[in-house]
Amino acid sequence: MATIVSNPLDFNVRDLYVDLAEITGRRLLLKCEGFNFAGSIKLKAAMEIVESMERTSRLAPGQTIVESSSGNMGIALSMAAAYKGYHFVCVTDVRCTKGAEKAMAALGAEVHIVRTADSVRGFLGARLDQVSDLCRDNDDYVWLNQYSNPSNWEAHYRTTGPQIAKAIPDLQVLFVGAGTTGTLMGCARYFRAERPSVKIVAVDTVGSVTFGTPAAPRLIPGLGTSVVPGIFDESFVDDVIHVREARSIEMCRSLASHGFLFGGSTGTVVRGAIDWLEASQFDASVISAAIAPDMGWNYTDTIYDDEWRDSSFPAEAEAAYANTCSEEHAKAHDEPGIYAGR
Ligand SMILES: Cc1ncc(COP(=O)(O)O)c(C=O)c1O
Repeated sequence: MATIVSNPLDFNVRDLYVDLAEITGRRLLLKCEGFNFAGSIKLKAAMEIVESMERTSRLAPGQTIVESSSGNMGIALSMAAAYKGYHFVCVTDVRCTKGAEKAMAALGAEVHIVRTADSVRGFLGARLDQVSDLCRDNDDYVWLNQYSNPSNWEAHYRTTGPQIAKAIPDLQVLFVGAGTTGTLMGCARYFRAERPSVKIVAVDTVGSVTFGTPAAPRLIPGLGTSVVPGIFDESFVDDVIHVREARSIEMCRSLASHGFLFGGSTGTVVRGAIDWLEASQFDASVISAAIAPDMGWNYTDTIYDDEWRDSSFPAEAEAAYANTCSEEHAKAHDEPGIYAGR
């Protein structure tokens, strides 16, 4: 039967998985969240946040929505705002892809690009400062605050978690990337309540501060933070693994060489999942799943561009990292299982 919609928020593919066994040698089922009109998993959080704020009268017609986003939340909110008739101001930074920036503008959003990171709180800190300034100066601006708004994780508690549980009844390990941690917290809280035997492994980027590791520059939008999100609660997470961005890019390109063009955070999550499984006590029969937040179209000028890759992650720097990093440094960053036993 045909699917017919008149509201762009109404369509979302909920049950598409790629079996990565042939590509990675591991039975890892990758839930694809990029097939909706916003092109990413952030559609779920955007809808839940906007609609719950409307229901509770914290957002009303005539007001302006403002949010800090690395790109995908901005696109999803641009779409929701266009459909519902709100003005939307997105505060992003220089790491936002040109494609995402242009998509937001095409949907009618006002895009502010932060060019200088805060010396302690990074780009996210600088973005949040700009959001505060905008709200202070404009009475009708409403900040949704995806970093602290419980609707962010509730969206995934209500949808992503149950969708995965239903599709994979014998699931043993679930890998979820951590950005605002909305997806991670929603899935982790759902499985803790409904199927506590499922191990929840967070995948983060080296340079992110969410799990207490040191801040460092990051270039790929989506995963990692420079300010710990208010909704993050480590007690729901069984383990975490950090992945260097150069290795995320290698994984993206490996998936693309098999015909699957995914976004950067998917490369991170899949790389982290394979590393974690290889270091774990599980054998090849373990049933695991991971979440792919978006597809690769917006990353053809970055992750999939040789010049960008070579200038951003020079081969010599990667070789030097491998040769010189101390054991302690490697452990603090990208060795699987370092947090095992939580
Ligand atoms: C491409 C991509 N991957 C992962 C994430 C992280 O999702 P969450 O914010 O739910 O942690 C985001 C969030 O914006 C994203 O855009």
